[in-house]
Amino acid sequence: MEVADIPIGLSYNDVLLVPKKSSIESRKSVSTATQITKGISLNIPIITANMDTVTESNMAIAIAREGGLGIIHRFMTVEREAEEVKRVKRAQSYIIDNPYSISPNATVGDAREIMSKNDVSGLLVVDQKRRLLGILSDRDIRFVKDDKMLLSRAMTPRKRLVVGKPGISPDQALEVLDKHRLEKLPIVDSKDIVRGLITSKDIYKNVISEKSAKDRRGRLLVGAAIGVKGDYIDRANALADAGVDLLVLDIAHGHSDSVIEAIKKIKKETGVPVVAGNVATKQGVDDLARAGADGIKVGIGPGAACITRTVTGAGMPQLTAVLSCAEAADGYGIKVIADGGIKNSGDITKALAAGAAAVMIGSMFAGTDESPGYFVTRNGTKYKAYRGMASFGANISRKKVDKTIIDPQEAFDIVPEGVESSLPYKGSVKEVVYQLVGGVKSGMSYSGASTIEQLKRNANFIRLTANASKESYEKLSQY
Ligand code: XMP
Repeated sequence: MEVADIPIGLSYNDVLLVPKKSSIESRKSVSTATQITKGISLNIPIITANMDTVTESNMAIAIAREGGLGIIHRFMTVEREAEEVKRVKRAQSYIIDNPYSISPNATVGDAREIMSKNDVSGLLVVDQKRRLLGILSDRDIRFVKDDKMLLSRAMTPRKRLVVGKPGISPDQALEVLDKHRLEKLPIVDSKDIVRGLITSKDIYKNVISEKSAKDRRGRLLVGAAIGVKGDYIDRANALADAGVDLLVLDIAHGHSDSVIEAIKKIKKETGVPVVAGNVATKQGVDDLARAGADGIKVGIGPGAACITRTVTGAGMPQLTAVLSCAEAADGYGIKVIADGGIKNSGDITKALAAGAAAVMIGSMFAGTDESPGYFVTRNGTKYKAYRGMASFGANISRKKVDKTIIDPQEAFDIVPEGVESSLPYKGSVKEVVYQLVGGVKSGMSYSGASTIEQLKRNANFIRLTANASKESYEKLSQY
């Protein structure tokens, strides 16, 4: 190969978006809605990374409420990952299909345990055929001292309950709830068998909140990651049964025979849309798209906790990767997700302008209230762990999923491609998203774009010299 044949690769920091005439008067008239697969639309182009220090159900719930999507990581048992998905799907819906229930012969202590374990404020009391006998809310037992008291004595009995029929619309349900000043409306059929539960909280959150990312039944959208080895088909099936909206094939080097094979198998088995990756080239997109991927995740080594490029010498500057992969994906009518290396809202705008339908973010959401893990305080600042999924610690934890004792040889065998760090407290996901989306909307207006599609069409990048880069990014530090 000649030196002259070596192409140049660009990172987000190597370019800026050229400002254009804009007729946009306020951020309110800019829409960040985006479609990531044929059936999945989001209101903000932000997806939280499938990493064990970023996305479990709390994060997925928080980001979907803001209009984005969380991908539950896969470094847990199949049962637990499916349970995490179910938690998100249950978190809001205008109707809960299988509300938690209890027998009238159970005790106040039993009810307290079930409510606390499942984080719910009430239980339906049913007989063995699931006929409704009453409702028990946490208020009914708040001051009950005797844990052994039978629920039949503590519940509000059936004759005092207002109920709805299956098929009731959100508007009708809201009317009944308002009229009777109720929190919960059990849905029962003609035989009084429980068919669901509607809560006023869910109706307000789901039907009324325009911004959350939800499925047709008002439930929050959620994705989940799977691998391509071992029990991955069982995992995919369990996640599909749990109601997952999107499966993400999460492989560091996704341009491989095993990923191509896995896409075909998963699509055949589950029917759930599959985003596959990670790749960074047109050829990578071609192969995964031909195998049936519904979306492609792009990024080899740009992530904050990634050392793949240093350890292996392989990688692709992220802006170039997104530009070439998005163009290739367009030919198959599918979208790309730009994964890793987002350091600020400007990077998101650049990724979208380069053709990504959304970005996947890890580090910027680590250290929030909703990221997994605990805060530790050092010198008066709170921190939470953030680690690459190919880091030493993450590798060891993975082995502990099935084993309790690690063989020293196994530890020796690990060649990490990620680092373990901790990041300062950032507040809630809502606060982080507000700043990011505000910046993106403003960025779109600089390109005269009121939609992401328009941004892609309008955008012109300019490359920066070393001096232009200094002028752009070297600023006074905030006091
Ligand atoms: P950010 O920059 O948002 O990146 O923190 C998140 C993305 O980083 C990738 N990732 C890794 N890449 N080694 C890598 O080379 C790792 O250990 C590692 N862990 C995560 C992943 O694509 C994630 O979404």
